[in-house]
Amino acid sequence: MVSSENSPIEIPASILIIGSGVFGLSTAYSLCKNPLFKNTSITLVDRQPFPVPDGSSIDTSRIIRPDYASPPYTRLASAAQALWRTSFAPQHYHENGLCITASGPEQKYVTSSLTNVQSLGTCKLEVLNSEDDIKRVTGLENASGSTGYVNWSSGWADAEGAMRWFRSGIEKLNRVRFITGTVTKLLIDHSTSLVSGAQLSDSRTITADLTILAAGAWTPSLLDLRGIAKATGQILVYLPITRSENHKLSRNPTLLNLSTGLFLIPPSQNLLKVARHGHGYTNPTTIPHPESSDPNETITVSLPTTHIDDPSQSVPLEGQKACRAFLSHIQPSFSSPNRPFTKTRICWYTDTRTGDFLISYHPKYRGLFVATGGSGHAFKFLPVIGDKIVDCVLGNMPEDFKGKWEWPENSVPEEEWEGDGSRGGPVGMVLREEMAKGESKL
Ligand SMILES: Cc1cc2nc3c(=O)[nH]c(=O)nc-3n(C[C@H](O)[C@H](O)[C@H](O)COP(=O)(O)OP(=O)(O)OC[C@H]3O[C@@H](n4cnc5c(N)ncnc54)[C@H](O)[C@@H]3O)c2cc1C
Ligand SMILES: *[C@@H]1O[C@H](CO)[C@@H](O)[C@H](O)[C@H]1NC(C)=O
Ligand SMILES: *[C@@H]1O[C@H](CO)[C@@H](O)[C@H](O)[C@H]1NC(C)=O
Ligand SMILES: *[C@@H]1O[C@H](CO)[C@@H](O)[C@H](O)[C@H]1NC(C)=O
Ligand SMILES: *[C@@H]1O[C@H](CO)[C@@H](O)[C@H](O)[C@H]1NC(C)=O
Ligand SMILES: *[C@@H]1O[C@H](CO)[C@@H](O)[C@H](O)[C@H]1NC(C)=O
Repeated sequence: MVSSENSPIEIPASILIIGSGVFGLSTAYSLCKNPLFKNTSITLVDRQPFPVPDGSSIDTSRIIRPDYASPPYTRLASAAQALWRTSFAPQHYHENGLCITASGPEQKYVTSSLTNVQSLGTCKLEVLNSEDDIKRVTGLENASGSTGYVNWSSGWADAEGAMRWFRSGIEKLNRVRFITGTVTKLLIDHSTSLVSGAQLSDSRTITADLTILAAGAWTPSLLDLRGIAKATGQILVYLPITRSENHKLSRNPTLLNLSTGLFLIPPSQNLLKVARHGHGYTNPTTIPHPESSDPNETITVSLPTTHIDDPSQSVPLEGQKACRAFLSHIQPSFSSPNRPFTKTRICWYTDTRTGDFLISYHPKYRGLFVATGGSGHAFKFLPVIGDKIVDCVLGNMPEDFKGKWEWPENSVPEEEWEGDGSRGGPVGMVLREEMAKGESKL
């Protein structure tokens, strides 16, 4: 290790990053760019070749919106959005707007918070008071029972396209050694509380002065994060549409129904996507305690299970029905039974109890840093989050995120998590139970 004048920490001679998603890849890039790490060797390991087919960061689309309830995230998202618009994979970014609608109790919230925003003179914002307003801006056939607003300054990105663009830029720097391999265990010396790298399933080990764990929703399989972070499964369904339907809808804004969490992203490549930003499914799984030297000690945590684990996996009937009902409401012509979903997918959030990211050294183990807790909203930060992570590695937590990204002082039972208040739809579903309720047919 080399000590540095600009930072309170010693610069590690070697860094191992576990995970090649938004958090891991952006960290790798920022380390390559930072002169303090000029002499540091950087290794990035992922269990799957890139682009990771079941990684949360790989998909047709992700919403890029700066309207958060929390000002620090709004500021950071605005900084990210400025880059999406100009230099960061701009060919994969589309500024179609985002239309947020609600009905029932959420309706009141939407209209009154908007009156406030409007009185501030925010531009590019349109309040939608009637069904006709919503139909006009979304170009959809039906929008009964809702009010809302559209922010024309929001957009969406082709997530896989942007990740590919970013990854190939990093590969060209020739600084990062990329390895495909599954980490089975962190190398923890319990007598000194030092982490010195990771063990792979093929019994290779990778040693490093600093290990940065960014394994997304799988992170709780490598560290005991009970009461701190857990995987929740979210649903996506895809419907093929014709070229002319694609053409017609591709310029529309994204539609998010706050009451149900269901949303429709503008189609691309003749594929329409419906998804739910919800409380999701948990998947309680009993595994050997990742931090115990006793192989018989186990813990039960919610972990991802994906189409890589089970190629026949599809979204439970409950979820498919919800997506179908949403679609047949807003666009009856897309919903007839001979227009089946051809692909469904469960994508995993790494939820924390407040929806804040977890970007911190481990409180107990030296040589271990964790960058995760995306909580279903990290993608938009791809252009900027790596720099913030490296700031935290250097011991400089951004002022805005003090009290948000640090390791929580105590763990809180999952039933008591308050979340970030943005989720709709059913609460408390367990994937296994929902699967058992009905054979889900496409
Ligand atoms: C359905 C869905 C919709 C979303 N919509 C939005 C949106 O509209 N806007 C937005 O901003 N955000 C959105 N998000 C959130 C955003 O996509 C995530 O927060 C972000 O992609 C998380 O990145 P990550 O690096 O934590 O996880 P990942 O991309 O999953 O990366 C983790 C990596 O770790 C690897 N890994 C895991 N275990 C191991 C192991 N043992 N050994 C080696 N490698 C391992 C995995 O293979 C994976 O590649 C959405 C997420 C989902 C699931
Ligand atoms: C990198 O190594 C060179 C050669 O040993 C040394 O001169 C330089 O100061 C080092 N840079 C950093 C940032 O540690
Ligand atoms: C709309 O988007 C702009 C810029 O992208 C943002 O500054 C503004 O806060 C958003 N408005 C609302 C109400 O979210
Ligand atoms: C949103 O969901 C609510 C509750 O299911 C529904 O009543 C309303 O019509 C929906 N609005 C739109 C535009 O989908
Ligand atoms: C683990 O359990 C097995 C079977 O119950 C027992 O034989 C073994 O001694 C145990 N190992 C430890 C380290 O406790
Ligand atoms: C719109 O949806 C509502 C509720 O699903 C339905 O009652 C109504 O007939 C629909 N209107 C049109 C024009 O399809």
